[in-house]
Amino acid sequence: MNTAEFIPKIRSEKIEEIGFTWQTPSNIALVKYWGKSDPQLPKNASISFTLNNCHTITTIDFSIQESAPCADFDLFFEGKEKEEFKPKIAGFFKRVEVYCPYILDYKMVINSENSFPHSSGIASSASGLSAIAMCLMRLEQALNPRLTEVYIIKKASFLARLGSGSASRSIEGPLVVWGKHPKIAGSSDLFGVQFPYKVHPVFQNYQDAILLVDKGEKQVSSTLGHNLMHKHPFAENRFKQANENLSKMSEILQNGHLEEFIGLVESEALTLHAMMLTSAPYFILMKPNTLEIIHKIWEFRAAENSNICFTLDAGANVHVLYPFSEKEKVNRFIESELANYCQKKQYILDAVGFGAKKG
Ligand code: PMV
Repeated sequence: MNTAEFIPKIRSEKIEEIGFTWQTPSNIALVKYWGKSDPQLPKNASISFTLNNCHTITTIDFSIQESAPCADFDLFFEGKEKEEFKPKIAGFFKRVEVYCPYILDYKMVINSENSFPHSSGIASSASGLSAIAMCLMRLEQALNPRLTEVYIIKKASFLARLGSGSASRSIEGPLVVWGKHPKIAGSSDLFGVQFPYKVHPVFQNYQDAILLVDKGEKQVSSTLGHNLMHKHPFAENRFKQANENLSKMSEILQNGHLEEFIGLVESEALTLHAMMLTSAPYFILMKPNTLEIIHKIWEFRAAENSNICFTLDAGANVHVLYPFSEKEKVNRFIESELANYCQKKQYILDAVGFGAKKG
């Protein structure tokens, strides 16, 4: 695996002080990544819709100092210093140090905030780590202005992946593949790439309403969850199936067959949860209201001849996916029916987005 291209070749003039602000979104996988090997390499390829409204905005102010043995940073989340978030970010900096040796020359002050409510059960690692990765790459570009935009985006995804696998899919949009796959030109285990084929117009501006069924702390951390796949009795078949599903999804995204899209997306969500139901130890991450919502969605789909469907992350919240043409009808259904199964009736209306934006 060739990671040498991500190690800077030149050590340039240092800059006294500089700061960058980047906004990067969350994403929702259509074909799921669950299972990895070191260093953060996926056991199967995955594809996601990049979201738009659920994002993190991060500013990093860099000021030069004597080179330190490890990254030196302060971390503020929503204006407050967050010591408890620091170990994860310190681990991330350690992992990217060889690719970004310049970070050791700076004191970094990181200010971050999410557009979605804190501990809403929405994974913030994808948006959070991709935002930091973008800020690091802008510093690298300031130090070496010859870097191309293509390289910056690719390396930002590469760095983000080392923080959280799914974060590699949050730099670009609207559809990103991560993981080497024979049917996806240019795909890699090292970074995410934009889905390289023409997408059917029905998927333009696709809608995602995130229903906040359970806003508590994650019951199973991603690290623990991925590790459960190491000795999982169904792991090898699952990885094979996911890669086959990505081939199918690639066709569907091009031909616009929504019925097949719905079948595949829902099956992927339930399979992800099936992996957790059948691991040792086992977990049930759905709540009774998750199931209530799924059944309501199925009833609505049949009664209204709708293309609404659901997907799930590793938690109880439900992502409701539907074409833009059904937005009004489905939003009314969510407000009048599905919101009743959400904590404090909370949900977030989102849609596909286009990735990192300068803040
Ligand atoms: O990026 P991680 O390590 O938090 O893993 C996330 C995995 C899922 O969100 C459950 C699925 C996916 O592909 O995003």
